[in-house]
Amino acid sequence: MKKILSLVVAAVMLLGIVSIAAADVPNAEKPVIWYNRQPSNSTTGELDMDALNFNGKTYYVGFDAKQGAELQGQMVVDYLKAHGEGLDRNGDGIIGYVLCIGDIGHNDSIARTRGARKALGTAVPDASQGKTEIATIDDVDSAPIGTNLDGSATDVKDGEIEIDGKTYIVRELASQEMKSSVGATWDAPTAGNAIGTWSGSFGDQIDVVVSNNDGMGMAVFNGWAKENKVPTFGYDANSDAVAAIADGYCGTISQNADVQAYLTLRTMRNALDDADIMTGISTPDAAGNVLSDDLYYYDEATRCFYALNGAVTADNYEAFLDATAPNAKFNFQLTEEQAPTKKVWLSVYNASDNFLNATYVPQLQNYDKILNLNVEYVKGDGQTESNLTDRLGNPGEYDGFAINMVKTDNAASYMVKLQ
Ligand code: BGC
Ligand code: CA
Repeated sequence: MKKILSLVVAAVMLLGIVSIAAADVPNAEKPVIWYNRQPSNSTTGELDMDALNFNGKTYYVGFDAKQGAELQGQMVVDYLKAHGEGLDRNGDGIIGYVLCIGDIGHNDSIARTRGARKALGTAVPDASQGKTEIATIDDVDSAPIGTNLDGSATDVKDGEIEIDGKTYIVRELASQEMKSSVGATWDAPTAGNAIGTWSGSFGDQIDVVVSNNDGMGMAVFNGWAKENKVPTFGYDANSDAVAAIADGYCGTISQNADVQAYLTLRTMRNALDDADIMTGISTPDAAGNVLSDDLYYYDEATRCFYALNGAVTADNYEAFLDATAPNAKFNFQLTEEQAPTKKVWLSVYNASDNFLNATYVPQLQNYDKILNLNVEYVKGDGQTESNLTDRLGNPGEYDGFAINMVKTDNAASYMVKLQ
């Protein structure tokens, strides 16, 4: 009897703690995990340290944009070098490519444009940043050029590549930010329209398609490149893109969404529990979840976690076919005692973004379960920040916030709600 009583008391206390928590903790002291869109100036890329230091329980989770961008560029060059025959479709001695740009103000997109141009030899120094030479991809001009059939554009130059002993000119024939008429970025239908226009006016000059992500890359592939057998490269390793490698999509980059989704909710869990932030990350948690250190790194000074990227090509794609599968190394259920259920508000900037909805959110849903986080997924329209912030009307209801902004400059509009 005594035992039962004490169990009941314990349960009541536990419930008490759970229900007191959200209402009693000031919102400004609750965990804030920024993810996928790093708080930063969309023009200069400079990190928004006010947002990253919002409180002692604030972190960013993303991936190494630069390492991934260099990998994507290298993947394209490796392919060109290995498939010389027939690449120059119209035999004019020029390898012409078109580039789909996601969002000119998003650091991931900027890095990928730079990485592709640097690897293909078409990069010029970014004069808008005062650069006069290119030491790293950070120095590369990332502006869209419109069309450049004659090679006269000033934000890129003609490059050169030697394939099977023959030197070709490499030319960026066209590039454009794929922004819909209402303002949604990384917009796949816009990329589908663009390839329609481009192929209609200079289709036989296009030998390669490079895209800042798979959503846009697959729109181009399905709309034109597949039928015309034009090598197409994307980024994200969404399941549909990986499956398309069997049908001629040439390659993509995995940004290890499993690691990022886990880190997003793991840092949340640790912050909620006042646990060491590396619990279940560099050291195993009570259930045995742990990340090996080749998967990520942490920059303590800026409170940012970055997953690393890997190339996915015809050589290895079979292992990546299910982008939504949880990682067996960190998929162990925590008990309610180890990690009492907490309520989390989580935004996704755009309900139509391919990567976030097809890959990242399903991964979050793997890990919210094992970490006992009751997550409310709030999806925006990809254009207006207020569409999301308006739905953060009652932050007192939640124990923590995981935020994917529409625009990387807009962190303050969330912080205001939590003051
Ligand atoms: C992904 C894109 C996605 C964007 C959204 C990037 O990291 O690669 O596919 O559209 O994030 O913020
Ligand atoms: Ca050509």
